[in-house]
Amino acid sequence: MIRLNYKYVDSAVVGLENGISVQREFDNYKDIIAGIISDLNKRKDKPGQWLQWMNLGYSEETVWYVKEYAALVENRFENILVLGIGGSALGGLALTEALLKPFWNFLSNEQRNNYPRIFFLDNIDPDTIVGLLDFLDLKKTLVNVITKSGSTAETMSQFMIIKDKLESELGADYRKNIVATTDKNTGVLKQIAEQEGYKMFIIPDDVGGRFSVFSAVGLLPFALVGIDIDDIINGIKDMDLALKNTDINENIAAQNALIHYLLDLKKGKSISVMMPYSSRLKYVADWYAQLWAESLGKQQNLNGDIVNIGQTPIKALGATDQHSQIQLYNEGPNDKIITFIRVGEFDNNLQIPNIFEYTGIGYLGGKSVNDLLNAEADATRVALSDFNRPTVTITLPKINGYYLAQLLYMFEVQTAIAGSLYNIDAFSQPGVEQAKNYTYALMGRVGYEESANLLHEKMNEDFIYND
Ligand code: PA5
Repeated sequence: MIRLNYKYVDSAVVGLENGISVQREFDNYKDIIAGIISDLNKRKDKPGQWLQWMNLGYSEETVWYVKEYAALVENRFENILVLGIGGSALGGLALTEALLKPFWNFLSNEQRNNYPRIFFLDNIDPDTIVGLLDFLDLKKTLVNVITKSGSTAETMSQFMIIKDKLESELGADYRKNIVATTDKNTGVLKQIAEQEGYKMFIIPDDVGGRFSVFSAVGLLPFALVGIDIDDIINGIKDMDLALKNTDINENIAAQNALIHYLLDLKKGKSISVMMPYSSRLKYVADWYAQLWAESLGKQQNLNGDIVNIGQTPIKALGATDQHSQIQLYNEGPNDKIITFIRVGEFDNNLQIPNIFEYTGIGYLGGKSVNDLLNAEADATRVALSDFNRPTVTITLPKINGYYLAQLLYMFEVQTAIAGSLYNIDAFSQPGVEQAKNYTYALMGRVGYEESANLLHEKMNEDFIYND
């Protein structure tokens, strides 16, 4: 199993002002945490609780349909193009980047075992879209459009552009190049998919976007590029079993949730830095940033009080960002808790040849890059603690589907537990609606005329500020 080391948040190591007495706090919160965990497990099957993501590891039907479709289209496409944004893209991006061979899209067919390349379009930058479409042969591309709501402006505008192009290139056959992943009841994409006859996968009810990576949202793209989804399912199940333990001393999601909650509220660590020491895990930090920010950043608590709560997540990459951010983390404001993710055993063991004897670099010869990377993680963690900066470390024995599923599922449960500790609704996102409505108004969506007038008034003098 993956492991959590919390030594470096203990006040015995980083001081009373910046750390907590971990075991004492575990004892203090023992009953509260046990109550939260049993409550989550009791509520998870109830409609409207947005906890169905806790059951995704057991959805044999989804796994079966995903595998069946992946087998059906095997060898038919050279590229997979995923259209989606936020929770509909970040999990897929994080795990494909971690689990596929590095530089996958640059490898030959043979090196990819004839599995397709995979691209995620998770923005609406016209230059990127045109650039990708110039490069992709759409006839050989399977487009997986993913949107739970079925009407997200970014995803649906991408889809409209690509569907139009596909149709003009392929004629009536274009439908075979589209697979939609969406809600089973509502949304425009569902209607289009039914009318047009696209293959469709369902995002189950009560699974929010940022908790959807283990539904068809993630599983389908993974299977299409040959990632073993059984490994992923086994990782979720084993972690789920471990996290059902109501004893905080045995439950790493509860431990990490409590540590982050207490450091935020009692020690002023309002920033949560996610710093994997592996380039393959770079987008895990992006996925975590969305999960932590959108779930916990809330204006109101469950009693309706204004609390303006939530840690700000920051993405970093070890060792790269030691040369850009660590100066600030060591000496700047002491307002962060940093999570290191370390890899026990990399797929490759890369030796540094013993070719120079210069004093400054000679010591590197004969060592491995693996040891260097982990030495840097150790050194940075200890240096941070010398400056009384708290850190936790999560160790993945290896980078594979089994351990990554454990990691992501653990973060999901950690987020749900933190939501209960903060007494907020971790599964809503009311704060994103205002700007969405303004966008609809600016783009002339019917029903938003009043907002459009109001908005034009507000934007009236923007030119004065050099817009
Ligand atoms: O986590 C969330 O709910 C969001 O980030 C959504 O995933 C994102 O807004 C995309 O929504 P949809 O899947 O409806 O297109």
